[in-house]
Amino acid sequence: MKVVLGIYLIICLKGLFTPTLCDASISTHDIQLKLHNTYVFTLDFKNQSTADEIVTLEVQHKDILKLNRSEFNVSDYVNTVLPVQVTAVGAGHSDIYANSTTNKTDLRDIYLRVTVFKNDGLNTFSSVIGWIYFVAWSISFYPQIYINWKRKSVVGLNFDFIALNIVGFCLYSLFNLGLFYIPEIKDEYSHRYPRGLNPVKTNDIVFSVHAACATLLTIIQCSLYERNEQRVSTTARTILGIFGVFILISIIISAAGVIHWLDFLYYCSYVKLTITLIKYVPQAYMNYKRKSTIGWSIGNIFLDFTGGMLSMLQMIVDSYNYDDWVSIFGDPTKFGLGLFSVAFDIFFIIQHYVLYRHSNYETDYK
Ligand SMILES: *[C@@H]1O[C@H](CO)[C@@H](O)[C@H](O)[C@H]1NC(C)=O
Ligand SMILES: *[C@@H]1O[C@H](CO)[C@@H](O)[C@H](O)[C@H]1NC(C)=O
Ligand SMILES: *[C@@H]1O[C@H](CO)[C@@H](O)[C@H](O)[C@H]1NC(C)=O
Ligand SMILES: *[C@@H]1O[C@H](CO)[C@@H](O)[C@H](O)[C@H]1NC(C)=O
Ligand SMILES: *[C@@H]1O[C@H](CO)[C@@H](O)[C@H](O)[C@H]1NC(C)=O
Repeated sequence: MKVVLGIYLIICLKGLFTPTLCDASISTHDIQLKLHNTYVFTLDFKNQSTADEIVTLEVQHKDILKLNRSEFNVSDYVNTVLPVQVTAVGAGHSDIYANSTTNKTDLRDIYLRVTVFKNDGLNTFSSVIGWIYFVAWSISFYPQIYINWKRKSVVGLNFDFIALNIVGFCLYSLFNLGLFYIPEIKDEYSHRYPRGLNPVKTNDIVFSVHAACATLLTIIQCSLYERNEQRVSTTARTILGIFGVFILISIIISAAGVIHWLDFLYYCSYVKLTITLIKYVPQAYMNYKRKSTIGWSIGNIFLDFTGGMLSMLQMIVDSYNYDDWVSIFGDPTKFGLGLFSVAFDIFFIIQHYVLYRHSNYETDYK
C-alpha cells in the first residue's frame, strides 16, 4: 500500500499552508464520521487553462464511503468552490484521492483521510482512556523518586534499569521531536507517505521528554543518596556500548547522505523498542538475588500496569469501533509490547506480594 502511495513523488504538504502553490485544493484532509452520517467537503480549482481535463475522485474502500458525485470537468469549476458530499456506509479507515485523465492539474493536495466509527460513546470512551493512560504512565516515575527521597537511599533500585531507561527515553524523545519539529524530516515523511498521518502527537512529545527528565532526576538521586556497591553492570555497559556504536554508525551514514535522517530516527526508535523489551530483566533478577523488593517501588509498577492495560483496552475498543482488527492485531508490535510490559508488571507484583513478602515486612522502609 505504502509503495503505491509512494508514487506521488513530490509532496504538496506546503499546500496546507500556502494553498496557492497547488492548482487544486480541498477544504480538509482529515475527518471522523459516524456510520451512516454525511459530510460535505469542498474542492477548489484555481484559474488555469485545462479544458478537456476530467478529474475523478477515487475512494479507496468503496464499502466504507460513497460520494454523491465523483467526476468533474475541471473547466466547468475553475475559480468556483465545488461541494461534494461523502456518506459513511461502513466502519473503518478510507482515503479519498483524485485522479485525472490528463494529469495537467496538480492534484496532490486533493486527498481526504476518513475514519468512520460505529458509536459516539465508544469514540469518547477511547479518547478518555487515552488521556488516562497518558497520565498513568507519566506519573509512574514519581513513586520511585518519592521512596528514594524518603529512604535517602537507592539500594534496591537497579542501576542497569535506570541506565537503559535514560538511553531509551532520550532516543524516543529524539524520534518524536525530529518527526514533529524538523521540517526536512517532516517533508521526507510526507514524501514517502504522501497521505500518511504524522505518527507523532503532542502527547508523545510531552510524555517522552518528561520521562527523560524524570529518569534524569532519578539518576541525580542515585549520585546523592546511599547506594552501597551498586553500579551499572558490565553486561549493561556492553549492551549500551553496542547500541552506541550502532547509533554512531547511523549518524555517520546519515551525515554522508547514504540514508536519510528519517531512517536514522527510525533506527533510534528500534533501539528504544529493544530497550523496552530488556529493561526490566536486571531489576527482576536483582530482586530474585536479594529475595526482596525493598527499594523498588511497587507504585511505579501499578501505574505502569494500569497504563498498559488501558492502552490495550483502547486498541480493542478502536478495533471494534473502526471495524479494523487487522491494522491493530496484524501489527503485533504495539499490542505485543503492551502485553509484554503488563506481563513483567504482574511478575513484579508477584515478587513483591507473594515471593518476597516476608522480607518486605521485616525490614520495611528505613
Ligand atoms: C485566468 O487565466 C487566464 C489565462 O490563463 C487569464 O487571461 C485571466 O485573466 C485569469 N483570470 C484570473 C481571475 O486570474
Ligand atoms: C469540459 O468542458 C468544456 C467547457 O464546458 C468543454 O469544452 C469540454 O469539451 C469538456 N470536456 C469534456 C471531456 O467533457
Ligand atoms: C452533492 O452534495 C452537495 C452538498 O450537499 C451538493 O451541493 C451537490 O449539488 C451534490 N451533487 C450532486 C450531483 O448531487
Ligand atoms: C488514474 O486514471 C487512469 C485512467 O484515467 C487509470 O489508468 C489509473 O489507474 C488511475 N490511477 C489511480 C491511482 O487510480
Ligand atoms: C496520472 O497520474 C497517475 C498517478 O501518477 C497515474 O496512475 C495515471 O496513469 C496518470 N494518467 C495519465 C493519463 O497519464
